[in-house]
Amino acid sequence: MKKSMIEAVVFDLDGVITDTAHYHFLAWKQLANEIGITIDETFNEMLKGISRLDSLELILQYGNRQHDFSTEEKEEMANKKNDHYRLYLNDLKPEHVLPGIPELIRNIKAEGIQIGLASVSKNAGTVLKALELEAAFDFCADAAKISKSKPDPEIFLTACSGLSADPLRSIGIEDAVAGIESIKASGMFAVGVGHTLQEADLVFETTNQLQWVNIKEEFDHWISRCETPDSL
Ligand code: BG6
Ligand code: MG
Repeated sequence: MKKSMIEAVVFDLDGVITDTAHYHFLAWKQLANEIGITIDETFNEMLKGISRLDSLELILQYGNRQHDFSTEEKEEMANKKNDHYRLYLNDLKPEHVLPGIPELIRNIKAEGIQIGLASVSKNAGTVLKALELEAAFDFCADAAKISKSKPDPEIFLTACSGLSADPLRSIGIEDAVAGIESIKASGMFAVGVGHTLQEADLVFETTNQLQWVNIKEEFDHWISRCETPDSL
């Protein structure tokens, strides 16, 4: 069998490994309601992959209340949203890992390829523990040490570096527009899950469709195109 050129596969967490993206939305919706702003799932697409404080800023701008609160009040609101979110996490269990993900992880591991996590959530450790998935990851980038949220490439580059993997030979999997931008800016092959991810190199509607054979095949086409010199 031809040895894979793939050095690592780096997963986003919320919305890829489990449906906590929906819990983030519910918690933000509750917080926004408390200050008289109504958000819906379409607006929420913009919040995916964005840090807690940056998300709050976007919600305040959306409600035209960006000048109404002090830094302390904003921190209080962000903490309150986190309290709402963490209540949902209390019910999170291993059976909430999204369909297709356990098999995908097994197939990647069977080829000796490393697995990383690139989530900007400070709750990522709690989520992985509740899902009993901590052992599946060879390296998890620490959101607390990341200074720029997605779409900046920092978190995917940190994950690759923690795995000693070349980003140009690694794959990132994301459900957010900002996440796909982050993967592409880091030079990796981008796999998108969901709609509105046109910038990805490969898109699937649901996690169930994330077949490792298909991902590898597309990665091989992509890397051979990348490695063909322009002069040929
Ligand atoms: C990302 C989510 O994974 O983490 C965002 O897509 C969220 O919606 C961000 O705001 C930060 O998460 P947390 O748990 O630190 O508030
Ligand atoms: Mg996500």
